[in-house]
Amino acid sequence: MSLRNELEQRVSAWAEKNFPGLVNEPWVRACADERHGHFQTHLAMVAAKATRQNPRELAERLARECPPPEGWEKPSVAGAGFVNYRVGPEALGRAVDTLRKDSRLGVPSVSRPESIVVDFSSPNIAKAMHVGHIRSTLLGDSLARLLHKLGHRVTRVNHLGDWGTQFGKLLLAYRAAGRPPIEADQAIDQLEDFYKKGHQATEADPAAMEQARAELAALQNGDPERLQDWRLFCARSAEHFRRIYERLGISFDAVRGESAYHEDLPGVVRELLDRKIAEVSQGAVVVRNTSISEEPYLVQKSDGAYLYATTDLAAIRYRTGEMKADRIIYVTDARQQLHFRWLFDTARRLGCRAELEHVWFGTILGPDRKPLKSRDGTPLKLTDLLHEASERAAEILRNKRPDLAPTALREKAELLGIASLKYADQLPNRNLDYVFTWEKLLAFDGNTAPYILNAYVRTRSILRKAGLSQPPEAAVKISQAEEEVLARHLLRFGDAVELATNDRRPHHLCGYLYELAGQYHRFFEACPVLQLPALRDSRLTLVFLTGEVLREGLSLLGIPTLEEM
Ligand code: ARG
Repeated sequence: MSLRNELEQRVSAWAEKNFPGLVNEPWVRACADERHGHFQTHLAMVAAKATRQNPRELAERLARECPPPEGWEKPSVAGAGFVNYRVGPEALGRAVDTLRKDSRLGVPSVSRPESIVVDFSSPNIAKAMHVGHIRSTLLGDSLARLLHKLGHRVTRVNHLGDWGTQFGKLLLAYRAAGRPPIEADQAIDQLEDFYKKGHQATEADPAAMEQARAELAALQNGDPERLQDWRLFCARSAEHFRRIYERLGISFDAVRGESAYHEDLPGVVRELLDRKIAEVSQGAVVVRNTSISEEPYLVQKSDGAYLYATTDLAAIRYRTGEMKADRIIYVTDARQQLHFRWLFDTARRLGCRAELEHVWFGTILGPDRKPLKSRDGTPLKLTDLLHEASERAAEILRNKRPDLAPTALREKAELLGIASLKYADQLPNRNLDYVFTWEKLLAFDGNTAPYILNAYVRTRSILRKAGLSQPPEAAVKISQAEEEVLARHLLRFGDAVELATNDRRPHHLCGYLYELAGQYHRFFEACPVLQLPALRDSRLTLVFLTGEVLREGLSLLGIPTLEEM
């Protein structure tokens, strides 16, 4: 248990005993300014407000009646009614000792694990994955890792867009060209090209639009030749996605696209109508709820076509039924917020009892503060982005490590480039748009992956120099301020993981790791490790623990480590 949690338990027990019925929130936080203390609680102020008491007096009472764990200093009251706590050296030593023996490194396990579906990445077939998919892919992956770490049963789902209206236009152009072979190595370019041609044709000519609709209808009604073409498009696109996921180190438990729900759609609409949740309006089927928007939610068009919404309703049924999900988390960009409000509301009315969450994110901007584009104005392709990340990292490494053989350099550059991209993308609060710059993301100093990886690499090189055959086991003796600060920060790892998970914001973990790397550098400057025999073993333990926490933290962000730069 973390130091914070130890204190939290005491404080919340006191709250429950003296103020039953008070909202239940985390009462203990780390102090922003350590001159006041290591932890503080604002409980007295909240309780005083609820019961019309004097907050200072209540804080005094709390400090008196609710002593901290053994080995902590006497709490003090400050400001409008905060109670501040400070950990003593012995209690700290004990806690580090527990951490050292804990294979979870202080990360708690939830008492009630849930079955959670994380729906993320979910690109559309026949189109290249582009910069718009990266945040969903990385954020979804990290959330899945975090939730799994806390003990939930996580199913990672790729809800591919493989049944949408794009296939009408695509089939139209593809068939007009005589159904040529789609070459594996340039499949996506070819498919995008056909789509573009189909789109242009339908824009120019209403008759072509009719034809495209007819193509789509033929496909959706199971015409064998169209199905065969569609399967080819899907297989070729899957190849393209697979290569990208492989480079990013991302996997799924289920790749279940929109087409998988095709046969369930009429049933969904029928049920909505039977239960009077939907109504027919000008030939279309819609759901109304003016508290969400004046415009109703369209679940079937007047020409009989089903929509994104219909498929998502069918998918919820499958996931709560077949997959037994207690919770579904959708990771998409901010523009889909309205869709998900409607979806969740409609699913509730259909009796869905699982928790439904939309985890949304902002846009990646270019230096001009407009959505990041490639030079020709089209969305920046993920393949190009990954390529450039790796190339730029190679350039930096060539200067730093002229001794490296070309293949070793390539390997390191790939790891470093992708790590940098992953870290930079998860660093901003997900709800914000952020400006993308290569220089910032690959810098060795600053809040970047190279900086944090460098701290990890330093821990490894000391341990190698020490010549240990096994992880160090000595107890930690705190003899200098830098050690104390580092030790206390190591003990907060569990809090950071918990916060990042519960808040669905991996950036909290980035902040934690950045701080840890900084504290480690300061420790390293101030505290010789191998030179002082009396402190050597204790310091090696501290170095080792720092490395473990850095590695585990990065891996929860989907970032692998390396043993040397
Ligand atoms: N394919 C969609 C897109 O590219 C994302 C799907 C998200 N998941 C979902 N169940 N709606 O925008």
